[in-house]
Amino acid sequence: MTGSNATPYERITVSPIAGALGAEIGGVDIAAGLDDATIAEIRRALLDHLVIFFRDQRLDDASHKEFSRRFGELFIHPNFDLGQADPEIVRVVRQPGDERIIGEEWHSDTTMMREPPMGAILYALEVPPFGGDTLFANQYLAYESLSDGMKAMLANLKVVHSDIKVAGPHNKLNARRSSKIREDANWRPTESVHPAVRTHPETGRKCLFVNHSYACRFDGMTDHESKPLLDFLMEHGHRPEFTCRFRWAAGSIAFWDNRCTKHLAVHDAGPFPRRMQRTQVAGNAVV
Ligand code: SIN
Repeated sequence: MTGSNATPYERITVSPIAGALGAEIGGVDIAAGLDDATIAEIRRALLDHLVIFFRDQRLDDASHKEFSRRFGELFIHPNFDLGQADPEIVRVVRQPGDERIIGEEWHSDTTMMREPPMGAILYALEVPPFGGDTLFANQYLAYESLSDGMKAMLANLKVVHSDIKVAGPHNKLNARRSSKIREDANWRPTESVHPAVRTHPETGRKCLFVNHSYACRFDGMTDHESKPLLDFLMEHGHRPEFTCRFRWAAGSIAFWDNRCTKHLAVHDAGPFPRRMQRTQVAGNAVV
């Protein structure tokens, strides 16, 4: 297991769902409000298990945001800021017939930003009777399983992350999916350069930090030169033994640590709708 902290939990129950990462948290009613000691245990469970899940919760927008704020300031996603009343909550909606969905490639969220969010809290309102699961992958394990030679080579490499692949008028995604993004003519790509291997600011552990949605090339190299190694690293990062799979029900929540995981929404909900809502918690510069 990834957990390094042997101190027992007193306020919550923590039940791992896979060998690599992921645990279900029990004993909490989030909407009722949680004391500081319970929040501290939830935070510890997140650091130990990388993604944590809650069942049978009843959140409205206010309680969703209040819970999220216990872990940091809310992050407003620039590409989902479409002039709606509340940009702090992104509606992740899939309707029958949608050809595309949000998050269908392996990714960490919003890594084109200089300070990508530390985490996201996704709450399920309506889920299909089958399909629509979410996969998560442990990027500590992805890094630790590389050879010493590869680790040495990556130590000095930086990666350019851009949202050019997922937003903007050229992508024409809005016509093909229910959740809309910025595709207006005023949109401009956002780019940041991050280390290929980052050090988690709370655990001090190293993890691989590249993903399909945003990583474009190594800093100082062309796309063509970068592609073979970037492709290897991105595929390596979700080998099955690094992953877990979450089966949603209405009222479920997934809270992932965006600094050391990647995730993917499986696009297999067939004729059924899937309605979720997501907050993001602000993070720090990647080092
Ligand atoms: C996301 O990538 O944030 C969405 C994940 C999901 O809908 O399962």
